[in-house]
Amino acid sequence: MSQATNQSWGGRFSEPTDAFVARFTASVTFDQRLARQDIQGSIAHATMLARVGVLTDDERDTIITGLTEIQGEIERGEFNWSVPLEDVHMNIEARLTDKIGITGKKLHTGRSRNDQVATDIRLFMRDEIDVIEVELKRLRKGMIELADREAETIMPGFTHLQTAQPVTFGHHLLAWQEMLARDHERLLDCRKRVNVMPLGAAALAGTTYPIDRHVSAELLGFDRPTENSLDAVSDRDFAIEFTSFASILLMHLSRMSEELVLWTSAQFNFIDLPDRFCTGSSIMPQKKNPDVPELVRGKTGRVYGHLMALLTLMKSQPLAYNKDNQEDKEPLFDTVDTVRDCLKAFADMVPAIEPKKASMYEAARRGFSTATDLADYLVRKGVAFRDAHEIVGQSVAYGLKTEKDLSEMSLDELKQFSATIEQDVFDVLTLEGSVAARNHIGGTAPNQVRAAAQRAREALAALKAGA
Ligand code: ARG
Repeated sequence: MSQATNQSWGGRFSEPTDAFVARFTASVTFDQRLARQDIQGSIAHATMLARVGVLTDDERDTIITGLTEIQGEIERGEFNWSVPLEDVHMNIEARLTDKIGITGKKLHTGRSRNDQVATDIRLFMRDEIDVIEVELKRLRKGMIELADREAETIMPGFTHLQTAQPVTFGHHLLAWQEMLARDHERLLDCRKRVNVMPLGAAALAGTTYPIDRHVSAELLGFDRPTENSLDAVSDRDFAIEFTSFASILLMHLSRMSEELVLWTSAQFNFIDLPDRFCTGSSIMPQKKNPDVPELVRGKTGRVYGHLMALLTLMKSQPLAYNKDNQEDKEPLFDTVDTVRDCLKAFADMVPAIEPKKASMYEAARRGFSTATDLADYLVRKGVAFRDAHEIVGQSVAYGLKTEKDLSEMSLDELKQFSATIEQDVFDVLTLEGSVAARNHIGGTAPNQVRAAAQRAREALAALKAGA
């Protein structure tokens, strides 16, 4: 490819672009990823131009045939991407003119690369959001079904990572699922603002041709054309919004990852992850490392980085289009890839989690996790809560000294601390009694977990049916 001044805008230039500057300002090495959307947008644009009489039907057909062939060349890896042609838009347009001659040069009538690139990214984002949503749904579904199966499995619940009260494993999984349900809403909300069409804004002020933006919007499946041409070419807040959705999602996945990593350790020993999600150590033969959750936890960092990059990219930019905006693509592409892969990893892994029920149960039994239940029992027998708290505190101190959990003490031992304690205390000191007693909406009782799983299932199905 020659180093001559770019043919698309070289008219007013008296010397060729510096070779380094040409490379420095080019984006084709990464924005060729938008080729499919660029061609899709161009076909709609040509169709609209013919509809309003700016192109003849023959010209439109020649352009569409040429673009369709170029699409094939790109898919087969035959397309020769040229850095001096700067970006995906001018590469495709130059190839079109190579193929069909002068008619190819008419495609750019009534548009600019500024509205073209803004349209391409939105089409790209919409496609990727739909792929990401499929993985997110698969993950939520797997989590809900696992929660339902584990509705009665008892484990310790933690505050400050200290044993607090018994909960069910199903309840814990449904807490994760709630986080993902909110992320899902954020994703769908973001999609609404992505699906608006900048095409027709041209460079910044609109165009003098009699274009019909509703026609192009409908052809491209956009909800509507953008309202303001200056905003249309400069706005990238939909990309920031997507990356902020992604950051919150990854923050949630990193929390789940952290718990999975802890739980697979010998010290917790709460779950097993199948070998296919783990790797070994080259030096320590006994090791089985939870690489997948560790890597998801680690990848959270790069997505936060992209959010900060995009926010900073847009900060203080005057209207309308500025070349700065070319920097939006790499952070966005990497965010899309990271989110899709992390969700896929989780959607595959979560249904395969194998809880070690006996070990979870034993951990819950050891940590005085039913101390609150004993206090509540005393309150029901007429003791004031603060006094009950004190009585239970003394019982726990005794348990620590004698290495006994509350449920392992005899009635006589318990009666030393309060005469109101009777045989029926053992109904509340068992782990099963403790979880069953939290029997209200949002509580950890097994029947509540099953009902919550059913509601979650229905909410997910309703999302599918809705828009
Ligand atoms: N490669 C550019 C971008 O990604 C396309 C728009 C360039 N427009 C311009 N007038 N230089 O933003």
